[in-house]
Amino acid sequence: MPADVDTKIITRQFGNEEAKNIEVYESLGGYRQLRRALGMKPEDIKAEVKASNLRGRGGAGFPTGVKWGFVPADAEDVYLVCNADESEPGTCKDRELMYWDPHQLLEGMIISAYALGARNNYIYIRGEMMRETPVLEKAIADAYERRYLGEDVLGSGFACHITVHRGAGAYICGEETALLESLEGKRGWPRLKPPFPAVVGVFGKPTVVNNVETLCNIPYIVEHGSQWFADLGVGRSGGTRIVCMSGHLERPGVYELPMTLTMRQLIDDVCGGIWKGREVKCVIPGGSSMPPMSADELDVPCEFDALMTDERIKPVEVAPGVPFDMGGGKELRTMAGSGGIMVMDDHTDIPAVCARVVEFYHHESCGQCTPCREGTGWLAKISHRVAKGEGRPGDVDLMASIADGIAGNTICALGEAAAWPVLGFLTKFRAEFEAKIKAPKEGAAA
Ligand SMILES: Cc1cc2nc3c(=O)[nH]c(=O)nc-3n(C[C@H](O)[C@H](O)[C@H](O)COP(=O)(O)O)c2cc1C
Ligand code: SF4
Repeated sequence: MPADVDTKIITRQFGNEEAKNIEVYESLGGYRQLRRALGMKPEDIKAEVKASNLRGRGGAGFPTGVKWGFVPADAEDVYLVCNADESEPGTCKDRELMYWDPHQLLEGMIISAYALGARNNYIYIRGEMMRETPVLEKAIADAYERRYLGEDVLGSGFACHITVHRGAGAYICGEETALLESLEGKRGWPRLKPPFPAVVGVFGKPTVVNNVETLCNIPYIVEHGSQWFADLGVGRSGGTRIVCMSGHLERPGVYELPMTLTMRQLIDDVCGGIWKGREVKCVIPGGSSMPPMSADELDVPCEFDALMTDERIKPVEVAPGVPFDMGGGKELRTMAGSGGIMVMDDHTDIPAVCARVVEFYHHESCGQCTPCREGTGWLAKISHRVAKGEGRPGDVDLMASIADGIAGNTICALGEAAAWPVLGFLTKFRAEFEAKIKAPKEGAAA
């Protein structure tokens, strides 16, 4: 990897088994930023986070400081919930952050809780994270012992508690309102928004939900200031970005990188190119819910705004020449999502990938809304028959119209998560789907 792209900040302890010990973390400068933050006014910390251009790393890239600003100024009980569900296919960074450097997350959370006036706070962790949960629980116990947590954090008078809550492995519980329902002990069904969690969240109280990676960045904003953090990034996106590179690569892995790098640089320079000397065919840039990119669209920086707006990426279409309307005529290209980048070589069967992705969202739909419950089922059925060479004339248009009917018509964004990749695959690889239908497998139904 070229030296100038080595920007390890929140991943710098990856591989160091010792860093999870509180003494080692302290000796490396850990919890110093908490002490500094406790000497600052909560308002000033919030202003710094806003000016830093930190954007949420959970999927939507929403500006963190703006979200924090939605909490009503006169709110008495505020909660901070760390979303550690990490369920988006292709994403595997939060578990590494929690395993290698749990105190970094705790320090980020305690500073954030102080800024928000949040006394009782939770880490909602995916049930399958057997390796990470005990590491976090030990780190929390040690932090209580050293008075970084408790009724009187470091003698400041600020009370801060963190509880780890284990989920049970439902993808939908990563969606923030389903997560809050689950945290309350109910079935993980997403809530209608508004009201947004920052106003009515867990137990009916204002709640900020932030992703693990988002919160890990907070101590560095306190340490170096908002300008430093904003300068690390590009445009309206501050900081570095962790990408989880998987698929047909020579060197897949979890990398922390500047957002100036293009997708092609990530594949060729960081990951050593496509395996077996093959060519790239398709890239999913931010977890399986994001529209894919084709091989001729990869010279775009992997930054939140560029992936949404760069005209070198073809807009997603609902029919040839008819762009998908995000609302108000706004076109959808793709999104940086959760940083799960899946790379496919030129031997990949795209209709088969599409069917696999659809199957996942169908399986994980909570069933509350008809367009998602029924639509994902229909999509699964049709995409499987197309993939098997048993498609019928008109199936490609039918899939596009079902996907278009789901997006924008559901309670939560799982609807879009299911619809967008389908529309994206059909836009960029339509000929492959049509070829499968025109040349049915021998013996397949007409
Ligand atoms: C179906 C679905 C699943 C999601 N899964 C996750 C997840 O596993 N982890 C996560 O941080 N955010 C997930 N999100 C996004 C959260 O709803 C929320 O926007 C995020 O946790 C906010 O944190 P951030 O502002 O720091 O990005 C999901 C969203 C949807 C619609
Ligand atoms: S969109 Fe799907 S997952 Fe979301 S609430 Fe509706 S049925 Fe449930």
